[in-house]
This record gives sequence, C-alpha cells and structure tokens, in this order.
Amino acid sequence: MCGIVAYIGKQEAFPIILKGLKRLEYRGYDSSGIAIQKDGELNIFKKQGKVSELEDFVQDKDTSGNIGIGHTRWATHGEPSDRNAHPHASGNEEFALVHNGIIENYAIIKEELLKRGHTFKSDTDTEVLMHLIEEIKLNQNCSLFNAVRIALNEVHGAYAIVVISKENPDELIAARKSSPLVIGIGKGEYFCASDATPIIEFTKNVVYLEDGEIARLSLKDGFKLKTIKNQEKTPYIQELEMQLEALEKGGYEHFMLKEIYEQPRSIKDCMRGRLNLSENMVALGGILNYKDKLVNAKRIIVVACGTSWHAGLVGEYLIEELARIPVEVEYASEFRYRNPVIDENDVVIAISQSGETADTLAAIELAKSKGAIIVGICNVVGSSISRATHCGSYTHAGPEIGVASTKAFTAQVTVLSLLALMLGRERNTITDERFTRLLIDLDNIPHKVESVLKTDAQIQHIAEIYKDSKNALYLGRGINFPVALEGALKLKEISYIHAEGYPAAEMKHGPIALIDEEMPTFVIATQDASYEKVVSNIQEVKARKGKVIAIVTKGDKDVKNIADHVIEIPKTDDVFVPLIATIPLQLLSYHIAVMRGCNVDQPRNLAKSVTVE
Ligand code: G6P
Repeated sequence: MCGIVAYIGKQEAFPIILKGLKRLEYRGYDSSGIAIQKDGELNIFKKQGKVSELEDFVQDKDTSGNIGIGHTRWATHGEPSDRNAHPHASGNEEFALVHNGIIENYAIIKEELLKRGHTFKSDTDTEVLMHLIEEIKLNQNCSLFNAVRIALNEVHGAYAIVVISKENPDELIAARKSSPLVIGIGKGEYFCASDATPIIEFTKNVVYLEDGEIARLSLKDGFKLKTIKNQEKTPYIQELEMQLEALEKGGYEHFMLKEIYEQPRSIKDCMRGRLNLSENMVALGGILNYKDKLVNAKRIIVVACGTSWHAGLVGEYLIEELARIPVEVEYASEFRYRNPVIDENDVVIAISQSGETADTLAAIELAKSKGAIIVGICNVVGSSISRATHCGSYTHAGPEIGVASTKAFTAQVTVLSLLALMLGRERNTITDERFTRLLIDLDNIPHKVESVLKTDAQIQHIAEIYKDSKNALYLGRGINFPVALEGALKLKEISYIHAEGYPAAEMKHGPIALIDEEMPTFVIATQDASYEKVVSNIQEVKARKGKVIAIVTKGDKDVKNIADHVIEIPKTDDVFVPLIATIPLQLLSYHIAVMRGCNVDQPRNLAKSVTVE
C-alpha cells in the first residue's frame, strides 16, 4: 500500500526514485508520481496507472536534478487519477510532499484552510497536510523543518511523509507515525523509502524512523533527528541483512511462482537452528525470555489479518492439540474495536508477513495496554510489529514480493508448529514418543513439499479445465479447514473468481445451493481423523453433479473412485498436513490466474502491506 522513495545526493535523483518505485510496486498502488527540485524549481510528474506509464510520460521531459521525492498511491481519499496522485504541492507551489497513511482530521483542517483562502486541486487528505504546513510556515515565519513538525502535532491518523522545497536544495524532511519509513545512509547521499527494498542496492546502513520522529537530511548538515515534540534524538543505524538477488525473479515468470517454488528452502530456513533432531528438542531463541509466560498462559489469543489470520487458525489447532492451551483467533481489525476481555495472564500472538499491517499493530497496542505479553511472528526483519512486540520469532522466508502470500504462510505455520511442539514438551501434554515422531515428520516437510511441486504439470492441466469457472468452493475439516479458506482466498485474490472456503460439513447449510455441473469444489481429503466424513461430503457434492478436485494422501483409493480429479500428496502426521496440502492450491490459483491473463503479482485493488486501517 502506498510507497515512498526519496533521494538527496550527487546522483540523478529521478532514475533512482523511479527504480525504487518499481521495487515498491509489489505493495499495491494505482498511480505514481515524482517531484524533482532543480535550480529553485519544483518539477512534478504524476500519472494514474503503473510506474511504467509515468516512465513513458516523462520520455520527452527534463527530469534532471539531485533531490526528489516519489510515490506510488493506493487510493483512499479520492479516486485513482493524475490529479490525486502524489506528490502534492503547496498552494504557493514552494513545497511538495509525499504521504503514506491517512490524516483522519483532514476535513476539519480543510474547512479552516478554505476559510483562509486556500484552494485545493485534489480530493486527498495529503494535499490538506501540505497546505497546513505552508500556512504554518508563512504565519510563523519558521524553517520548513519546524513548520512540518508543528503541523504534525495538529494532525490525527497515520503518516509517513517526505517533504522538499524550492528554496532549499539541500534538504529532505521525513517523518513517521504508524506508517513505515526507512532512511538509507550512503556516502554523501541519503535515501528514504517505505521499506528497505529500494535502498539495498545503494547502502546497507539504515535507520528505521520511530513513531513521532522527524528527520532532516542535508548533505551539508548531515542527519538531524527529533521528535515532533522537539526533543533531540540520536539516529540508531542498523545494517541490513537482505540480499539484492532476493528481490529479483531469478528466471521465473512471476514472483509468486518463484515464491511457491522457494518453499522447500524457506521452510527449512525457518526451522534452521530451531528444530534439533540430534538433541530431540525445539529452541525458539526469540521467545526464550518469555517462555514461562507462554508455558503458563491461561489462554492464547492470535491476532492477524488475511493469510496470516489463516495461519493463526492452523496455529489454533496445533497449539490446542499439542499443548492443550485454549486459543482464540481474532481478526485484528475486529479485536481492536470490541473492548476485548484480556489481562496479564493472556498471551497474544501477532502474526504478520509485512510486520506493518495497521490493524494488527493497533491490536498489539491495545493488548499491551491491558498487560498481555505479545509474541510476534513476522517475516520482515525490523518491521514495526517486530519492534512493538515483547518477543517473537521471525519466519525467515526472505522477501515476499507477490501480493498473494505463499511462502510466508507456510513459514508462519512452521513457526506455529515449532511453538506448539515446544509448548507441548514443556507442559507435558505430548508423550516423548509422539514428540520425537513429530520432530522427524516436521523435519521431512521440505522434501515432501518438493515432491508436491513435481505435480505441477498435472495441476496445470486441472487449471486449464476450470479456469473459466465463475464460482469455486473449497472444503476441509479440522486443521484443514483453514487450508480451504486459504485456497479460496488465493483463487479470488489473483484470478477474481468468486471462491469460498467452508468447513466441509457446513456445506449443507448454504453453499450446497450453488453446486451444479459448472461448479468446481476443491476438497482436502487426506487420510486423517475426519477422512470418512469428508468422503461423505464429497458424495454429497457428486450427488448434485458438482465437479470435485480432491487433495488426497498418496495411494488413496476411495476418493479416487468418486472425485473427478485427485492430486496426491505424501503422507505426514495430521497436524502437518496444512504445510503440504496448501501447495497444490497455491499452484492451482497461480495457473488459473495466468491463464485468465491476470496480473498475478499485483492483483487489482490489493496491497501487500496494508498500512491503513
Ligand atoms: C494484505 C495482503 C495479504 C496479507 C494481509 C495481511 O491483504 O495482500 O497477502 O495476508 O495483508 O498482511 P500481513 O503483512 O500482516 O501478513
């Protein structure tokens, strides 16, 4: 969701910012723009659509200059258009601003500014903030830095912003609250970006701005940091561990396909140093200090959104089954607004790939304020959520660029599996024998995922048959119900086919009405405790002439006899089936979306990192 890139240094700013915006495309957006300061002029280029359209638009224009700000906008206030695209200039066109987030009290401020004669060119909340800064600067005759700082004390909501001005060619002003902003420190140059991906090829030294901080980046005066309340701060410089190759497609047609195929490795990376077969133990270093709290928790509450919420549902089954601690899984967006009953005996697990999801962050803050211990499961190192939690485990899946989450999901489930095993062991809720067996099984999952990836040609064939469907149903039971939800989410996200995930037995309370010869039903029918029940559910679909595509355990006979297609997956313990059964569903969605001509990596309207509530 909205991406920011800014540059100040000796190099040409435009190509650096443009490339950076391309790196941020994965976040989701519908327009883009860049403002360049040169010789006391501000040149602003903005275009609805993809960054490539902005690139075409500037072909015959002078984009030279060494300082600039750029933005990809995911529309909130005002439709996607050239007019509403960022950067936004002040009324006197002396300053320009890019903004990620939402200024919640923009309407009141706008009304005031209108009374004072300001006129607005866009429908955005961002332009109002720019005019407010201008108003303060003129009225108080202060520096731009102070004007921005004072203005930020008057706004409510979330922001990451970068401001440049005509008058000062040696100054970028950047600030954040609830929306991420990273500053890269190069040799005689500075970069700002919503995440580290545009910065990594220039420098590994970064500063993650904290909420309420404002920075002035100047080639002459260096990096000055304050809070918006005017307290001096010292920037904390960190070294990035990310590799540039991880941001490239590496020969695959799409990031999503690359990321699906990376799963044997990403699951292994996630278990590395944590699953120890020779010592027959699980060690999660990041939660060691809070282990007792977890082991003795009366209840665990998982908060997350989207795919991460589905991982949480798998976690519920895992933790309840293996550690016998009651688990509740909540949409972060609901949890934060319903005065939840929660206290210091509860442990909250916040799951987030990006570590920036606004609702999940707010849910964490709420739970913290009630005394609960918060454990984070994040993929992006140094992200806001990883910093807001008391302790946690990174998923180590590497950068996930495809908007539809794949390898992050299986890595989240891997961490939850390790956690459930560790808790089960500590609480004596599983026998030694089962613990050892499960450890061996989990250790084998990457090989099994590898073998499922080999069925890709068969999955493509199935995709070809069902690619024109209008609706699809996904069924699973027990720990595989969340797999059905995730399968349906993947299909709708990237192919725009309406899909629903249901607990298999619930089908007869509604979705069964949709079934006809056209309707594919994808069923997770592996040989586990509810196998026979699921077979009956498949019979119910077939009796209504529905088409059934079943994911079965290798060697299965019963389902093979009744389903239209079966996809075989290797046998594993029931609790780890989600880690394998998810893979064919990811591939199916991918192929169907490609066959329908959809933009797989950047599906319409969706954002990778949802930094607004
Ligand atoms: C967006 C993404 C999803 C993701 C969800 C939660 O909707 O498109 O893929 O599952 O946000 O994101 P998080 O980064 O918190 O896991």
